[in-house]
Amino acid sequence: MSKILITGACGQLGSELTTELRKIHGTDNVIASDIREANDQIGDGPFEHLDVMDKARIEEVIEKYNITVIYHLAALLSANAEKNIELAWKLNMDGLLNVLNIAREKNLERIFWPSSIAVFGPDAPKNDTPQNTATNPTTVYGITKVAGEQWCAYFYNKFGVDVRSLRYPGLIGYKSLPGGGTTDYAVDIYHKALAGETFSCFLEEDAALPMMYMSDAVKATIDLMQVPEENVKVRTSYNVAAISFNPAEIADSIIKQLPGFEIEYAPDYRQEIASSWPDSIDDSAARSDWGWKHEFDLDKMTVDILENLPIIIEKAES
Ligand code: SER
Repeated sequence: MSKILITGACGQLGSELTTELRKIHGTDNVIASDIREANDQIGDGPFEHLDVMDKARIEEVIEKYNITVIYHLAALLSANAEKNIELAWKLNMDGLLNVLNIAREKNLERIFWPSSIAVFGPDAPKNDTPQNTATNPTTVYGITKVAGEQWCAYFYNKFGVDVRSLRYPGLIGYKSLPGGGTTDYAVDIYHKALAGETFSCFLEEDAALPMMYMSDAVKATIDLMQVPEENVKVRTSYNVAAISFNPAEIADSIIKQLPGFEIEYAPDYRQEIASSWPDSIDDSAARSDWGWKHEFDLDKMTVDILENLPIIIEKAES
């Protein structure tokens, strides 16, 4: 039986993945960890305080629970990384290399590591960006993701470490607050809409980006981790896509449900990050190699969030 460690479990993806993996594998078989305190979103179950830059501490946790699989999510996201480029490099790279080296040394069964559409810079085609094309990222976050992808492929090819990876688009969930990403405006916007506030958007109205609803992202992750090794043909990281929209389009989708909602635009340094990324990406390799298929389009996601977010807010306030 797999014993799973999740790093960065208190983040947006981490908290939802922890809950889902605990449903599949049993609460005690999924160890949540984070440098932050445990939060309500990850629920009850084993939790370890863990700094992924501390290799000895990761080893200690792995030995304590006989971990066989790691979902290594701890990282700085794009906007936060631009504010602290040295920490971003250290956390995102040392963390990954620690996990990959431990996987090699302890012969772990499988590793998951998230990459991002941020690997692509202005030299990549903007629409339907292919799996293999010029990357040349212009953000420090993108640099860490390109380097990380190459390390993953290297550890698989040289040492047989079965590390699997997805290039996530912007992930939109309602269970956690935004975490310092450029695509996170599309999380915050629902909170403001429900509070009856005008949303001030830090991107321009036509800044289209590839996006995905969190439940699709969780499904993609778990699907990729479950397929037989021979199906995983891309050993850097798979493009995965679902929807693509700009701030004006998400605002329109919200207005269909909440007609009084208003948005205004005050682009800041994050617009430059968004401009360097694709508008939409081609994920045909993921679809053909391991059957990836998304479920939520923009309107379906909006309806689901506006239905469920009030329950979360009420719980947090009580
Ligand atoms: N959602 C991430 C960010 O905006 C991109 O991977 O940082």
